[in-house]
Parts: sequence; structure tokens; C-alpha cells
Amino acid sequence: MSHFYVTTPLYYVNDKPHVGHAYTTIAADVIARWHKMLGDDVRFLTGTDEHGQKVFEAAQKRAMSPQDHVDSMVVPFQNLWKKLNIQYDDFLRTTEERHTTVVSAVLQHLHDQGDIYEDFYEGWYSTSAERFWTEKDLVEGKCPESGLPVQWLREKNYFFRMAKYADQLRSWIADNPDFLRPESRKNEVLGYLRKDVGDLCISRPKNRLPWGIPLPFDEGYVTYVWFDALLNYITALGYSPTKSDELFHRYWPATYQLVGKDILTTHSVYWSTMLFAIGLPPARCLYAHGWWTVEGQKMSKSLGNVVDPNLLIDAYGADPVRYFLLRQ
Ligand code: ME8
Ligand code: MG
Repeated sequence: MSHFYVTTPLYYVNDKPHVGHAYTTIAADVIARWHKMLGDDVRFLTGTDEHGQKVFEAAQKRAMSPQDHVDSMVVPFQNLWKKLNIQYDDFLRTTEERHTTVVSAVLQHLHDQGDIYEDFYEGWYSTSAERFWTEKDLVEGKCPESGLPVQWLREKNYFFRMAKYADQLRSWIADNPDFLRPESRKNEVLGYLRKDVGDLCISRPKNRLPWGIPLPFDEGYVTYVWFDALLNYITALGYSPTKSDELFHRYWPATYQLVGKDILTTHSVYWSTMLFAIGLPPARCLYAHGWWTVEGQKMSKSLGNVVDPNLLIDAYGADPVRYFLLRQ
């Protein structure tokens, strides 16, 4: 019997799920069910990404504490999966202790190993948008979001030695032709890797962003949300830098990691190099699908042009909606 592990992205709880999130989750569910029918030993993971600037701002807008916000916003996701008969084996929230303690242990491990170092981050900072912009982003020298002046800021941060593992990733892609699919996405990633890959800033000062997993080696900082969230795929299996659970040995590397093309770079480059640094192989296949669009634009929580899958289910039933989304 072969082991089969399929994952979806962990969706941000900045707003309710829409047709795009339903699509990836239904696809994973169908693949999982198919492999169960084939007699495989199947595990299917989904969940929610609950830290970071986006979620923190969403909580502020609702005048709620981040924890109350995420506790209430995870519910529409879980309800929708129930309504769509999604049979996942595990649902991970990145605020759960089983995740945060392992992220912290991995950070400490990589720091001890010399793969995380301290340096200065410099750039144009907008206090209104509370973020850095590159020279190119600026509009007439001002913040492209607020139109207000920006200032040159130099800030201490922590960096992951991503560049050190870029060659290993290039060879991995060459040696594993089924790793990045479909072919068009592979070409996109190879294009990215042809340029110089830099190191990755993995910290945010607490005074700018208090909502995240504290760095174990500097309490003035929280972990960059992607460095935290990507680890979910192995923390959910009980991975630990010292001694992992049996589940981890059984299911890693994942058979399929499904994502949308919006998060191809974070998964193909950040995640793979993180795994190499930890000493683990990437998934057998990272599959990045395209977008559901509205009037030619990506359907998106941030843009607000969303179709609520609940309305479709109420009108047509779960199975027709599942069929329609996959058929397209
Ligand atoms: O990126 N069409 O979360 P997210 C098709 N938290 N699929 C879509 C879509 C669309 N218009 N919009 C969203 C994040 N999706 C991070 C992920 S993983 C460790 C962290 C689906 O809430 C698609 O799978 O923005 C996409 O990649 C994902 O939702 C992004 O969800
Ligand atoms: Mg998104």
C-alpha cells in the first residue's frame, strides 16, 4: 500500500473563503478520495494561516483582538468545508501550539546551524502603509498606497540563508522533472532562479507587527508569516528537529502540494530551500493551478470581487458545485 499525502495552502483568515479557496480544496478532496478508492494510505491536510500583517490589519478593522478575530474567522472556512463534504484528515491553524512550538524549535535549530543571521534591512518605509517599498514601487517619490511621504529606514532584522541553497534547488528541479507542474510553472520558476537569489528576511520587529510567533533568540521580533506558515505541512505530521512522530516518516515527502499560481514562488523557492536547510526533501509534486477571475481580474479577498460558494451551494447543492468547479 502506498502512502499518499496531499495538502492545500493554509488560507489567510483576513476574510471569508470564496470560490478560489473552494476550488483548491475540492481538487485536493477529489484526489484524496480517488487514492482512497485505489487502496492507498491517504492523508489530506488543509487549514488556516492566522498570523502576519494582513490578518492583524483585518482584526484592527473589526476592532477586535487578533486572537478573537482569528477564532471567529476560522469558522466560515470550517463550515464551508463541511457543506462541501470535504473529508480532510487534519485541519491545522497556525496559532495552535503544536505548530508554534515546532516553528520556534526549527528557528532555533537553523540559527544554531548558522543559517539564520542578523543584518540590516534598508528601504523606503511608509508609516501610513506600515511597510517597506522599493524604489520602483514609489509614485513620484511617495507611498503608492497613501500618497504620503516615505522615509529611508534602516532596521535590524534576521535573514535566512536562502541563496546558499539555490544551487541545490536548481539541481533538484533538473533531476526531478515531475516536481513542478504544469510545465509552464516550471519555466516560471526556472526564470526566477536564473537571476540572483537573495537571502530571505524572516523577522518583523514587534513594535511594527506584534502578531506572530516570537523569535526564540530575540524577543523583540516575530517570525515573518511565510516562514511560519510554510512549516505547517510538516508540523501537522508531528515533525520535530529532534524526534519526529511516526506520521511524519509515513507521509513526508508529500505526494501533491496544491497551490494557486499566486504563491508559486513562496512554495517552490522559499519552502524548498527551507526544507533543504532542515535536511529534508521537497514534495514529489508541487502543482500550481490558475485563477478564477471576475471581469478578467483575479477573484480576491483583498479586492473584494468575490463569489461566495455558500450561495452557489444553497442554490444548486454541494455536488453540482463541486462538479462545476472541477469541470471548468
Ligand atoms: O496565500 N482562483 O492564502 P490565501 C483560484 N496564506 N484559486 C484561488 C483564488 C482564485 N482567484 N484565490 C485564492 C495565502 N485561491 C497564504 C498561503 S500556505 C503555507 C500560505 C486559492 O488566503 C489558491 O489555492 O491568499 C491560492 O493559492 C490560495 O487560495 C491563496 O489563499
Ligand atoms: Mg492571497
